[in-house]
Amino acid sequence: MAEGARAAGSRCVYISTDYVFDGEQPHGYAEDDPVNPVNLYGVSKAAGELAVRNSCPDSLIVRGSGLFGHAGSSGKGGNLVETMLAKAAAGEPIQVVDDQFAAPTCTRDMADRILLWLEHRVPPGVYHGANRGGTSWYQFCRRIFEIAGVQPDLTPKPAGVQEVRRPLSSILLDTRSERLGLPPNRTWEDALSWYIENRPAQRQEQDPTRGRIPSLGARRPAPPP
Ligand SMILES: NC(=O)c1ccc[n+]([C@@H]2O[C@H](COP(=O)([O-])OP(=O)(O)OC[C@H]3O[C@@H](n4cnc5c(N)ncnc54)[C@H](OP(=O)(O)O)[C@@H]3O)[C@@H](O)[C@H]2O)c1
Repeated sequence: MAEGARAAGSRCVYISTDYVFDGEQPHGYAEDDPVNPVNLYGVSKAAGELAVRNSCPDSLIVRGSGLFGHAGSSGKGGNLVETMLAKAAAGEPIQVVDDQFAAPTCTRDMADRILLWLEHRVPPGVYHGANRGGTSWYQFCRRIFEIAGVQPDLTPKPAGVQEVRRPLSSILLDTRSERLGLPPNRTWEDALSWYIENRPAQRQEQDPTRGRIPSLGARRPAPPP
């Protein structure tokens, strides 16, 4: 795709991940921090970043983290917010790791960032499209239930020894937008509230005729002429 984009004189946007980092920096990672993946997925994504940059120099490498959105992940099946709300509705006890940290990201916000950067013709390179801030997965789930107004049996647990090694703390910092005169992304808490208020089941209950997700762009500054 990157070769095709270069041949067509187009920009290439490659979606990448916080898993290119080793997770040893508790305060987060800037775009140019060195990658050092700790599992095969991270290695394959870091290799993809390099291949895209080599094949199409006019590329944006956009990293996200812990994605949740209306379409869900076909590979993982749905998203963590929906999984948690379904478990709560079924009355299941829920245990979530409290010692791994990331910047959970709403896919709609990440798409919005990509459009913003493309419309403003930002220079090629690495961009962090995650929502602002960072949290542990346990704290993220606590917030899901607070916003949704449900009180399941939720307890924290340590990650312990996992079958697949994961970065401990892979919060993505967007240090580029401000330098380019563009607004920062909203926080993960604001994004989560928006998602829960607009989740597919919620919209159907409120108004079964509503099929569309609220439109993009209301928060984006106008592109330069
Ligand atoms: N999920 C996360 O939390 C997360 C976090 C950070 C970054 N990301 C990145 O975000 C992107 C999407 O992830 P996701 O979790 O949303 O995955 P997903 O829903 O499983 O989406 C993957 C997409 O890639 C397509 N695909 C997979 N293998 C393919 C192949 N060999 N050839 C052509 N198309 C192929 C799939 O097509 P089909 O639907 O037809 O199979 C699907 O549309 C990935 O680049 C991932 O690295 C994800």
